[in-house]
Amino acid sequence: MARHTVADMRAVHAAGAHFAAVTAWDRPTAEFAEAAGIHFILVGDSLAQVALGHESTVRVGMNEMLHHTAAVVRSTSSALVIGDMPFLSYVDVPTAAENAARFIRDAGAGAVKLEGGVAVAPVVAALVRGGVPVIGHIGFTPQSSLNESKPRAKGRLPEAAAALLEDAMALQDAGASAIVIELVPQELAAAITGRLTIPTIGIGAGGGCTGQIQVLPDLLGLLGATAPRHAGRITNLRDEAIAALTTWRTSVESGDFPTAAQGIAADATLIAALNELPR
Ligand code: KIV
Repeated sequence: MARHTVADMRAVHAAGAHFAAVTAWDRPTAEFAEAAGIHFILVGDSLAQVALGHESTVRVGMNEMLHHTAAVVRSTSSALVIGDMPFLSYVDVPTAAENAARFIRDAGAGAVKLEGGVAVAPVVAALVRGGVPVIGHIGFTPQSSLNESKPRAKGRLPEAAAALLEDAMALQDAGASAIVIELVPQELAAAITGRLTIPTIGIGAGGGCTGQIQVLPDLLGLLGATAPRHAGRITNLRDEAIAALTTWRTSVESGDFPTAAQGIAADATLIAALNELPR
């Protein structure tokens, strides 16, 4: 089966419809997403926190991102897999070209995402010229948050809102296929979306974007940490997993697990031989 591409995102946008996207990083999370009919999977650098236990996205580099992107590609058959270019991996055009090539050529991604607006437009243009589908990311951009104590909404003041629109236009002009808009007022995200011809993908940016993306454990309640309010957690798999494992542990400790149903039965010949074993 052919994989989805960024052209499918554009088709949804052109039709005035919406699409869902999630971050995933390994076989179970990728399989959950694809089986749920989600066609767009980002291997986000939030991998750092949600899978690898770091405090910040800046702690992952190309090796980890490629390792997990390749795992998601292997575990899916039709989804577009988007590799998230990590901290300092697109600091100039040659660096970005080499690293984007590794995502596409070595890991099998169908697109890359990178953070920034006007400042990264030349890098986006160079990658697009080289044939790489690029998704931009504006608003709250975790890789540039080293000086902030926690995620903060962006574009709340008129000048900041105008600057975000300028960023979005620069990305579109550079050839970006879509733009993630994170943590901005919903009216601003809708206004930006309405002025673009390419799709926007909102996270904490309201319903006016073309698509919506969320970090999978925030949606499914996989981790103990509080999910951001915008994720609107849809279930609590962590509690279910812990309850199930607790039941299993107690059945091991009481001798109730395993039963014959989980074992391998010896045939009559082996049983006879076992009975002959020296005491
Ligand atoms: O790393 C990530 O998961 C992301 C999403 C929040 C868009 O960049």
